[in-house]
Amino acid sequence: MAVAVYPGSFDPVTLGHQDIIERSSRIMDKVIVGVLKNNSKSPLFSVEERVNMLKSVTGHLSNIEIQAFDGLLVDFVRQCHADVIVRGLRAITDFEYELQMSQTNRVIASEVDTIFLTTNLKYSYLSSSIVKEIAMYHGDIRAFVHPEIAVKVQEKVESRTGKMPSREQ
Ligand code: COA
Repeated sequence: MAVAVYPGSFDPVTLGHQDIIERSSRIMDKVIVGVLKNNSKSPLFSVEERVNMLKSVTGHLSNIEIQAFDGLLVDFVRQCHADVIVRGLRAITDFEYELQMSQTNRVIASEVDTIFLTTNLKYSYLSSSIVKEIAMYHGDIRAFVHPEIAVKVQEKVESRTGKMPSREQ
């Protein structure tokens, strides 16, 4: 059975992430989405919230599991008895960082390989930070995230700023 780990911060999960999850679920027998707990990025959502958001947008996929993790990614991969790490490549600018990560991971755990899926062109510009920034300025984020996630981001931004982001089209 081929098992993959797809790691990330997912703060919040975007349609770009969902595209990678759906495509890897067709290639692999099982995909474990690993949500990074100890995050230097000071996330908008707690790890529990990020896990729950991922569960709600992947509920239709039977071979997807969502788990929080902290520490080294390779330790999580070993703990999951996974064969590979899956990462999405959005643009050439991602390549250098991803190459460094995959090579470092292979030095510390030689059996852990990484496979890369090229991100759908539609989402090649997308990041979680862009989504949060648009929401902060009351923009419509429904082109970038699942409608349920859009509501959660709007609520969270509202609770942080005390203002109601516009829900107009
Ligand atoms: N579509 C849309 N956006 C995408 C995307 C896709 N397919 N793939 C990545 N992104 C965005 C993310 O939203 C994120 O945006 P942000 O920076 O605005 O938050 C950005 O690209 C970075 O991707 P992300 O998936 O969040 O990964 P990361 O770079 O934060 O974390 C880990 C990568 C979790 C794999 C890495 O930090 C890690 O392994 N940590 C564990 C510690 C460890 O083992 N360190 C040694 C590694 S060598």
